[in-house]
Amino acid sequence: MKKILIKDILKKKGIAPLICLTAYSKSITKIIDKYCDIILVGDSLGMVLYGMKSTRSVKFETMINHAKVVKKSAKHSLVVFDMPYKTYSNKNVAYANAKKAIRLTNCDAVKLEGGKNIANIVTHLTKKGIPVMGHIGLLPQHAYNFKHKGTSNHQRQKIYSDSLALTKAGVFAIVIECVVESLAKKITNNIPIPTIGIGSSKYCDGQILVTDDMIGLSDFYPKFVKRYANIKKTIESAIIKYCKDVRFKKFPSSKNVYKN
Ligand code: KIV
Repeated sequence: MKKILIKDILKKKGIAPLICLTAYSKSITKIIDKYCDIILVGDSLGMVLYGMKSTRSVKFETMINHAKVVKKSAKHSLVVFDMPYKTYSNKNVAYANAKKAIRLTNCDAVKLEGGKNIANIVTHLTKKGIPVMGHIGLLPQHAYNFKHKGTSNHQRQKIYSDSLALTKAGVFAIVIECVVESLAKKITNNIPIPTIGIGSSKYCDGQILVTDDMIGLSDFYPKFVKRYANIKKTIESAIIKYCKDVRFKKFPSSKNVYKN
């Protein structure tokens, strides 16, 4: 299967919606890889896998471990490494960490949360040859509530100018999280690079969801998540069957036993 490159992502703007999902493990990557344009090794793994209260507690080393296995398992999608909280506090720290992340994991790009406030950092990374994906609107690394954005004029102007600043800084795509539809549409129509929405309407150039949320494995079901499966239920019914089999000595059967 052909490996997706950044130039392929750029070409899809206005032509075909970009399909993006998160992955943290080999098993999920192997399932989703052939269907995705982009796989994000998101710092959402802090909450989803490790039960943390926010993404602020996620460690760089944890991201490296997960990104290594995802990148190794992905043969098709572009794999993006989500830079955790405080790992890009200035341009030198950001460059050292982004370079290390790419060297250790072989990921294709990094993602940073922020707009105008990090534009100088993004410019530094892109000038040094590190592909960067932006992330504006609701920023989980800085948020204390998960309310959608773009409801006031002030917020709208700020988020719009964030999108322009990141575009100028050289990002190849921007994740727009939980932004009202009209603003997501305005940004998408006015920047030359793809926008990838999460809770930001169909007007974005692509969509991303946390895989665990959309397959019904996590407990996080905000309005913007559509649940395509109830995997929790499927797992639970398998566990119940296993319990019964063990209790009634139906497992292991002769099929599962080594005989000499
Ligand atoms: O960490 C993550 O999974 C993300 C997505 C929600 C875009 O940043």
